[in-house]
Amino acid sequence: MSKLRVGLLFGGRSVEHEVSIASASSIFRALDPARYDVSLVAIDQHGRWHLAPPTLPQEAGLSAGLSGREVSLPAVPGERALVGARGESVVSGLDVVFPIVHGRGGEDGSLQGLLELAEVPYVGAGVLGSAIQMDKEVSKRLLVAAGLPVLPYVCVRKAELARDPRACADRVLRALSLPVFVKPANLGSSVGIHKVKTAAELLPALEDAVRYDPKIVVEQGIAARDVEIALLGDDPVEASVPGEIRTHREWYDYEAKYVDEATELLVPAPISEALAQELRETAIAAYRALEGRGFARVDFLVDRDSLAYYVNELNSLPGFTDVSMYPRMWEASGLPYPALLDRLIELAIESHRERSRLETQYRKP
Ligand SMILES: Nc1ncnc2c1ncn2[C@@H]1O[C@H](COP(=O)(O)OP(=O)(O)O)[C@@H](O)[C@H]1O
Ligand SMILES: [Mg+2]
Repeated sequence: MSKLRVGLLFGGRSVEHEVSIASASSIFRALDPARYDVSLVAIDQHGRWHLAPPTLPQEAGLSAGLSGREVSLPAVPGERALVGARGESVVSGLDVVFPIVHGRGGEDGSLQGLLELAEVPYVGAGVLGSAIQMDKEVSKRLLVAAGLPVLPYVCVRKAELARDPRACADRVLRALSLPVFVKPANLGSSVGIHKVKTAAELLPALEDAVRYDPKIVVEQGIAARDVEIALLGDDPVEASVPGEIRTHREWYDYEAKYVDEATELLVPAPISEALAQELRETAIAAYRALEGRGFARVDFLVDRDSLAYYVNELNSLPGFTDVSMYPRMWEASGLPYPALLDRLIELAIESHRERSRLETQYRKP
């Protein structure tokens, strides 16, 4: 059997650039060289693509990876090639792309759109699912419509804030009680998020958040535990054992995610089997409501006292180092990291095959 040609895309223009490099390193190390022929493509902070040396992205070093030959993927159906500056083919016959690029430009549907136009199978959610799951406000609307539990929230837009900041703050304070969480609608890694405990802090928080996104979600704050479920597949979708994140900080902020070594990942989460089962079912319903495909990590906020749970967000491209939550939850559910990668690639190819079977012209039934 000939090897599958995999394009592993990593890096990107978001604050999660480094996380993506770490994820790609783990994936590269775990992909069986007897089965896969992997081309590493590093996307730099300007969004340009570079063919990285065929070694571990992390060890090659960012600078080495990014000084590699510049390539692009032409949006030409079926060509499936990475081409150089003069249009010459550098890597041809790509069978599948694994886009492990987080945040804006990677996880928001735009990269998926390019891969669709190029007709290359790719791992994970499609254009619509990626875009929806990236947007906290659209996600909430759809979760509410599906009857799923989310915390009460208010949406504030930049123009409205500029016109009448006092009225915005009053509207928030009438609808919710303090503390509230102020969040840019399309970001990640807790960047631009504020926990607001006093009315006086609200406007500065809103004004900071609109620097990142013209749309802000303000959400009811609760004393919460962060509990997550990993999902895999399309139909059927499988759900993992839950995991929990324990931070010594007040909430799971940027420092807790990337700096604080004391942040603990508990897999499985210390919760009852009954609650775990409810979370799994809710996670699958949320995945359906938000057009999930391939895989996703579903994050819940669970009230510390009442254990009431709320869907916080879906991540269509969760952190994917071998010690990240998503792979660890599968490991604890009996699916080791390399087998998880095989499955994701298989799903990508199957789902592409399904889509390419669809009629593109009207034909009389
Ligand atoms: N409404 C809330 N109540 C309590 N804690 C919250 C709330 N919203 C967010 N948090 C805390 O903030 C963290 C980051 O928020 P989240 O919405 O997941 O943003 P991001 O997309 O940046 O990960 C959560 O993991 C949780 O610890
Ligand atoms: Mg989160």
